[in-house]
Amino acid sequence: MKIPKRLQPLVDDGLIDAVISRLMSGKEADVFIVRCGDNIRCAKVYKDAMKRSFKKAAQYQEGKKVRSGRKARAMEKHSNYGRQQQEIIWQSAEVDALTLLASVGVRVPETFCCVDGVLLMELVTDAAGDVAPRLGDVALSEEQAIRDHTLMMHYIMLMLCAGLVHGDLSEFNVLVDDHGPVIIDLPQAVNAASNNNAQAMFARDVNNMRRYYGAFAPALLHTQYAKEMWALFEEGDLTPGSTLTGEFEDDSNSADVDALLEEIEAVKQEEQERQAFINNAKEDE
Ligand SMILES: Nc1ncnc2c1ncn2[C@@H]1O[C@H](COP(=O)(O)OP(=O)(O)OP(=O)(O)O)[C@@H](O)[C@H]1O
Ligand SMILES: [Mg+2]
Repeated sequence: MKIPKRLQPLVDDGLIDAVISRLMSGKEADVFIVRCGDNIRCAKVYKDAMKRSFKKAAQYQEGKKVRSGRKARAMEKHSNYGRQQQEIIWQSAEVDALTLLASVGVRVPETFCCVDGVLLMELVTDAAGDVAPRLGDVALSEEQAIRDHTLMMHYIMLMLCAGLVHGDLSEFNVLVDDHGPVIIDLPQAVNAASNNNAQAMFARDVNNMRRYYGAFAPALLHTQYAKEMWALFEEGDLTPGSTLTGEFEDDSNSADVDALLEEIEAVKQEEQERQAFINNAKEDE
Protein backbone atom coordinates (compact mmCIF):
# COMPACT_ATOMS: atom_id res chain seq x y z
CA MET A 1 0.00 0.00 0.00
CA LYS A 2 0.98 3.65 -0.31
CA ILE A 3 3.26 4.65 2.54
CA PRO A 4 1.39 6.71 5.15
CA LYS A 5 3.04 10.08 5.85
CA ARG A 6 3.82 9.23 9.48
CA LEU A 7 5.68 6.05 8.45
CA GLN A 8 7.79 7.74 5.77
CA PRO A 9 10.64 8.76 8.15
CA LEU A 10 11.05 5.11 9.25
CA VAL A 11 11.10 3.99 5.61
CA ASP A 12 13.70 6.68 4.88
CA ASP A 13 15.80 5.45 7.81
CA GLY A 14 15.61 1.85 6.58
CA LEU A 15 13.68 0.65 9.64
CA ILE A 16 10.69 -0.34 7.49
CA ASP A 17 10.97 -1.78 3.97
CA ALA A 18 7.30 -1.89 3.01
CA VAL A 19 3.88 -1.16 4.44
CA ILE A 20 1.62 -4.15 3.84
CA SER A 21 -1.76 -3.06 5.22
CA ARG A 22 -3.61 -1.04 7.81
CA LEU A 23 -4.65 -3.35 10.62
CA MET A 24 -6.73 -1.08 12.82
CA SER A 25 -7.61 2.49 13.39
CA GLY A 26 -8.09 2.86 17.13
CA LYS A 27 -8.94 5.76 19.40
CA GLU A 28 -5.35 6.52 20.13
CA ALA A 29 -3.37 5.03 17.31
CA ASP A 30 -3.35 3.62 13.78
CA VAL A 31 -1.84 0.16 13.55
CA PHE A 32 -0.13 -1.13 10.38
CA ILE A 33 1.40 -4.42 9.27
CA VAL A 34 4.86 -3.71 7.87
CA ARG A 35 7.79 -5.64 6.47
CA CYS A 36 11.24 -5.13 7.95
CA GLY A 37 13.75 -7.20 5.97
CA ASP A 38 12.45 -10.76 6.17
CA ASN A 39 10.21 -10.05 9.15
CA ILE A 40 6.58 -9.04 9.27
CA ARG A 41 6.04 -6.58 12.11
CA CYS A 42 3.49 -4.26 13.59
CA ALA A 43 3.79 -0.45 13.54
CA LYS A 44 1.66 1.53 15.98
CA VAL A 45 1.38 5.18 14.96
CA TYR A 46 0.24 7.37 17.85
CA LYS A 47 -2.36 9.99 17.11
CA ASP A 48 -1.68 13.59 18.09
CA ALA A 49 -2.33 14.58 21.67
CA MET A 50 -4.90 17.06 20.30
CA LYS A 51 -7.06 14.16 19.15
CA ARG A 52 -7.01 12.47 22.53
CA SER A 53 -8.85 13.45 25.64
CA PHE A 54 -6.67 15.39 28.05
CA LYS A 55 -9.18 14.98 30.85
CA LYS A 56 -8.91 11.21 30.70
CA ALA A 57 -5.13 11.46 30.47
CA ALA A 58 -5.00 13.45 33.72
CA GLN A 59 -5.97 10.54 35.97
CA TYR A 60 -3.34 8.36 34.36
CA GLN A 61 -0.60 11.01 34.50
CA GLU A 62 -1.11 11.51 38.22
CA GLY A 63 1.95 10.52 40.17
CA LYS A 64 4.23 10.52 37.12
CA LYS A 65 7.32 12.47 37.96
CA VAL A 66 8.47 15.28 35.71
CA ARG A 67 11.76 16.56 37.06
CA SER A 68 12.27 19.74 35.09
CA GLY A 69 10.30 22.68 36.46
CA ARG A 70 9.89 24.20 33.02
CA LYS A 71 8.43 20.99 31.59
CA ALA A 72 6.09 20.59 34.55
CA ARG A 73 4.84 24.18 34.29
CA ALA A 74 4.35 23.92 30.53
CA MET A 75 2.41 20.68 30.94
CA GLU A 76 0.14 22.26 33.50
CA LYS A 77 -0.55 25.19 31.19
CA HIS A 78 -1.15 22.88 28.23
CA SER A 79 1.06 25.09 26.06
CA ASN A 80 2.36 23.72 22.76
CA TYR A 81 5.66 22.86 24.40
CA GLY A 82 3.72 21.24 27.25
CA ARG A 83 1.65 19.15 24.88
CA GLN A 84 4.80 18.08 23.06
CA GLN A 85 6.38 16.98 26.35
CA GLN A 86 3.24 15.12 27.39
CA GLU A 87 3.21 13.43 23.99
CA ILE A 88 6.79 12.18 24.41
CA ILE A 89 5.96 10.86 27.89
CA TRP A 90 2.84 9.11 26.56
CA GLN A 91 4.67 7.45 23.68
CA SER A 92 7.70 6.36 25.64
CA ALA A 93 5.47 5.09 28.46
CA GLU A 94 4.24 2.25 26.23
CA VAL A 95 7.64 1.07 25.03
CA ASP A 96 9.00 1.38 28.59
CA ALA A 97 6.11 -0.65 30.01
CA LEU A 98 6.39 -3.32 27.29
CA THR A 99 10.13 -3.66 27.86
CA LEU A 100 9.73 -3.90 31.62
CA LEU A 101 6.92 -6.44 31.40
CA ALA A 102 8.79 -8.66 28.94
CA SER A 103 11.77 -8.65 31.32
CA VAL A 104 9.67 -9.94 34.24
CA GLY A 105 7.97 -12.69 32.23
CA VAL A 106 4.67 -11.17 31.12
CA ARG A 107 3.74 -12.16 27.56
CA VAL A 108 3.61 -8.90 25.59
CA PRO A 109 4.70 -8.10 22.00
CA GLU A 110 8.46 -7.81 21.68
CA THR A 111 9.46 -4.22 20.93
CA PHE A 112 12.09 -3.11 18.43
CA CYS A 113 12.09 0.68 18.60
CA CYS A 114 9.96 3.74 19.16
CA VAL A 115 10.84 6.69 16.91
CA ASP A 116 8.95 9.70 15.58
CA GLY A 117 5.77 8.63 17.36
CA VAL A 118 5.83 5.12 15.89
CA LEU A 119 6.30 1.95 17.93
CA LEU A 120 7.72 -0.97 15.96
CA MET A 121 6.88 -4.29 17.58
CA GLU A 122 6.30 -7.98 17.02
CA LEU A 123 3.11 -8.79 15.12
CA VAL A 124 1.27 -11.28 17.33
CA THR A 125 -0.05 -14.11 15.16
CA ASP A 126 -2.05 -17.31 15.57
CA ALA A 127 -0.87 -20.80 14.66
CA ALA A 128 -1.68 -20.23 10.97
CA GLY A 129 0.43 -17.05 10.89
CA ASP A 130 -2.61 -14.77 10.66
CA VAL A 131 -2.93 -11.76 12.95
CA ALA A 132 -3.98 -13.03 16.37
CA PRO A 133 -7.59 -12.38 17.35
CA ARG A 134 -8.56 -10.21 20.29
CA LEU A 135 -9.71 -12.08 23.38
CA GLY A 136 -13.17 -10.54 22.91
CA ASP A 137 -13.49 -12.34 19.56
CA VAL A 138 -12.56 -15.74 20.95
CA ALA A 139 -14.97 -18.30 22.41
CA LEU A 140 -13.36 -20.55 25.02
CA SER A 141 -14.13 -23.92 26.53
CA GLU A 142 -14.60 -23.88 30.31
CA GLU A 143 -11.28 -25.63 30.83
CA GLN A 144 -9.42 -23.21 28.57
CA ALA A 145 -11.06 -20.21 30.23
CA ILE A 146 -9.90 -21.39 33.67
CA ARG A 147 -6.39 -22.09 32.39
CA ASP A 148 -6.04 -18.73 30.61
CA HIS A 149 -7.58 -16.86 33.55
CA THR A 150 -5.01 -18.41 35.88
CA LEU A 151 -2.22 -17.37 33.52
CA MET A 152 -3.70 -13.87 33.22
CA MET A 153 -3.83 -13.50 37.03
CA HIS A 154 -0.19 -14.59 37.12
CA TYR A 155 0.73 -11.94 34.52
CA ILE A 156 -1.19 -9.27 36.44
CA MET A 157 0.61 -10.29 39.62
CA LEU A 158 4.02 -10.06 37.90
CA MET A 159 3.00 -6.66 36.56
CA LEU A 160 2.07 -5.43 40.04
CA CYS A 161 5.32 -6.80 41.47
CA ALA A 162 7.08 -4.69 38.81
CA GLY A 163 5.11 -1.67 40.08
CA LEU A 164 2.72 -1.30 37.15
CA VAL A 165 -1.05 -1.33 36.68
CA HIS A 166 -2.25 -1.67 33.06
CA GLY A 167 -5.14 0.75 33.54
CA ASP A 168 -7.15 -0.26 30.45
CA LEU A 169 -7.13 -4.04 30.56
CA SER A 170 -10.12 -5.63 28.88
CA GLU A 171 -10.90 -8.31 26.31
CA PHE A 172 -10.09 -5.67 23.65
CA ASN A 173 -6.51 -5.17 24.83
CA VAL A 174 -5.58 -8.84 25.04
CA LEU A 175 -4.68 -10.90 21.96
CA VAL A 176 -4.74 -14.69 21.92
CA ASP A 177 -1.93 -16.60 20.28
CA ASP A 178 -1.05 -20.28 20.36
CA HIS A 179 0.23 -20.11 23.93
CA GLY A 180 -2.60 -18.06 25.39
CA PRO A 181 -3.15 -14.40 26.24
CA VAL A 182 -0.83 -11.60 25.10
CA ILE A 183 -1.30 -8.22 26.78
CA ILE A 184 -1.18 -5.11 24.56
CA ASP A 185 -1.92 -1.37 24.59
CA LEU A 186 -0.01 0.08 27.54
CA PRO A 187 0.60 3.82 27.00
CA GLN A 188 -1.66 4.60 29.96
CA ALA A 189 -0.01 2.12 32.38
CA VAL A 190 0.19 3.71 35.82
CA ASN A 191 2.62 3.50 38.71
CA ALA A 192 1.03 1.24 41.31
CA ALA A 193 2.62 2.95 44.30
CA SER A 194 2.39 6.64 43.43
CA ASN A 195 -0.91 7.02 41.56
CA ASN A 196 -3.94 7.55 43.80
CA ASN A 197 -6.21 5.94 41.22
CA ALA A 198 -4.03 2.84 40.90
CA GLN A 199 -6.03 0.62 43.25
CA ALA A 200 -9.34 1.39 41.54
CA MET A 201 -7.80 0.87 38.09
CA PHE A 202 -6.22 -2.38 39.25
CA ALA A 203 -9.57 -3.69 40.52
CA ARG A 204 -11.25 -2.70 37.26
CA ASP A 205 -8.54 -4.47 35.21
CA VAL A 206 -8.70 -7.69 37.25
CA ASN A 207 -12.49 -7.72 37.38
CA ASN A 208 -12.78 -7.15 33.62
CA MET A 209 -10.76 -10.32 33.14
CA ARG A 210 -12.89 -12.17 35.73
CA ARG A 211 -16.06 -11.09 33.92
CA TYR A 212 -14.81 -12.18 30.48
CA TYR A 213 -13.33 -15.56 31.44
CA GLY A 214 -16.17 -16.04 33.95
CA ALA A 215 -18.71 -16.02 31.12
CA PHE A 216 -17.17 -19.35 30.02
CA ALA A 217 -16.34 -20.66 33.50
CA PRO A 218 -18.91 -19.30 35.99
CA ALA A 219 -16.94 -20.56 39.04
CA LEU A 220 -14.45 -17.75 38.32
CA LEU A 221 -17.10 -15.12 39.00
CA HIS A 222 -16.73 -15.73 42.76
CA THR A 223 -12.97 -15.18 42.86
CA GLN A 224 -11.44 -12.19 44.66
CA TYR A 225 -8.03 -11.86 43.02
CA ALA A 226 -8.09 -8.05 42.92
CA LYS A 227 -8.55 -7.71 46.69
CA GLU A 228 -6.18 -10.57 47.45
CA MET A 229 -3.34 -9.20 45.30
CA TRP A 230 -3.75 -5.58 46.39
CA ALA A 231 -3.76 -6.51 50.09
CA LEU A 232 -0.52 -8.49 49.64
CA PHE A 233 0.98 -5.65 47.60
CA GLU A 234 0.13 -3.05 50.23
CA GLU A 235 1.66 -5.19 52.96
CA GLY A 236 4.81 -5.55 50.87
CA ASP A 237 4.20 -9.32 50.75
CA LEU A 238 3.53 -9.74 47.02
CA THR A 239 6.36 -11.51 45.18
CA PRO A 240 6.55 -13.16 41.74
CA GLY A 241 6.45 -16.49 43.60
CA SER A 242 3.33 -15.71 45.66
CA THR A 243 0.65 -18.40 45.49
CA LEU A 244 -2.77 -16.90 44.92
CA THR A 245 -6.00 -18.55 46.00
CA GLY A 246 -8.63 -16.17 44.61
CA GLU A 247 -10.09 -16.02 48.09
CA PHE A 248 -10.11 -12.99 50.30
CA GLU A 249 -11.50 -12.40 53.73
CA ASP A 250 -12.25 -8.79 54.37
CA ASP A 251 -10.53 -8.31 57.73
CA SER A 252 -11.93 -4.87 58.32
CA ASN A 253 -15.48 -6.20 57.85
CA SER A 254 -15.10 -9.15 60.19
CA ALA A 255 -13.42 -6.87 62.76
CA ASP A 256 -16.37 -4.52 62.46
CA VAL A 257 -18.83 -7.37 62.98
CA ASP A 258 -16.95 -8.51 66.09
CA ALA A 259 -16.93 -4.99 67.47
CA LEU A 260 -20.65 -4.64 66.77
CA LEU A 261 -21.46 -7.92 68.56
CA GLU A 262 -19.41 -6.80 71.57
CA GLU A 263 -21.27 -3.52 71.58
CA ILE A 264 -24.66 -5.31 71.52
CA GLU A 265 -23.56 -7.56 74.40
CA ALA A 266 -22.47 -4.56 76.43
CA VAL A 267 -25.80 -2.79 75.87
CA LYS A 268 -27.69 -5.96 76.86
CA GLN A 269 -25.59 -6.27 80.02
CA GLU A 270 -26.20 -2.66 80.90
CA GLU A 271 -29.94 -3.08 80.44
CA GLN A 272 -29.96 -6.17 82.68
CA GLU A 273 -28.09 -4.27 85.37
CA ARG A 274 -30.53 -1.36 85.07
CA GLN A 275 -33.53 -3.69 85.39
CA ALA A 276 -31.95 -5.41 88.41
CA PHE A 277 -31.37 -2.01 90.02
CA ILE A 278 -34.99 -0.96 89.41
CA ASN A 279 -36.29 -4.27 90.82
CA ASN A 280 -34.10 -3.93 93.92
CA ALA A 281 -35.32 -0.41 94.42
CA LYS A 282 -38.95 -1.62 94.12
CA GLU A 283 -38.33 -4.39 96.69
CA ASP A 284 -36.85 -1.84 99.10
CA GLU A 285 -39.97 0.35 98.89
N1 LIG B 1 1.49 -6.32 18.32
C1 LIG B 1 0.31 -6.53 17.74
N2 LIG B 1 0.07 -7.66 17.03
C2 LIG B 1 -1.13 -7.86 16.44
N3 LIG B 1 -2.16 -6.99 16.48
C3 LIG B 1 -1.99 -5.85 17.17
C4 LIG B 1 -0.76 -5.56 17.84
N4 LIG B 1 -0.88 -4.36 18.44
C5 LIG B 1 -2.12 -3.92 18.18
N5 LIG B 1 -2.80 -4.80 17.41
C6 LIG B 1 -4.18 -4.65 16.90
O1 LIG B 1 -4.48 -3.27 16.79
C7 LIG B 1 -5.55 -2.91 17.67
C8 LIG B 1 -5.29 -1.53 18.26
O2 LIG B 1 -4.12 -1.56 19.03
P1 LIG B 1 -4.03 -0.86 20.46
O3 LIG B 1 -5.10 -1.39 21.33
O4 LIG B 1 -2.63 -0.99 20.94
O5 LIG B 1 -4.30 0.66 20.05
P2 LIG B 1 -5.41 1.71 20.48
O6 LIG B 1 -5.36 2.83 19.55
O7 LIG B 1 -5.25 2.00 21.90
O8 LIG B 1 -6.73 0.96 20.24
P3 LIG B 1 -8.10 1.08 21.02
O9 LIG B 1 -8.36 2.52 21.19
O10 LIG B 1 -9.03 0.39 20.09
O11 LIG B 1 -7.87 0.36 22.32
C9 LIG B 1 -5.62 -4.01 18.69
O12 LIG B 1 -6.91 -4.21 19.21
C10 LIG B 1 -5.17 -5.23 17.89
O13 LIG B 1 -6.25 -5.80 17.20
MG1 LIG C 1 -6.56 -0.94 22.49
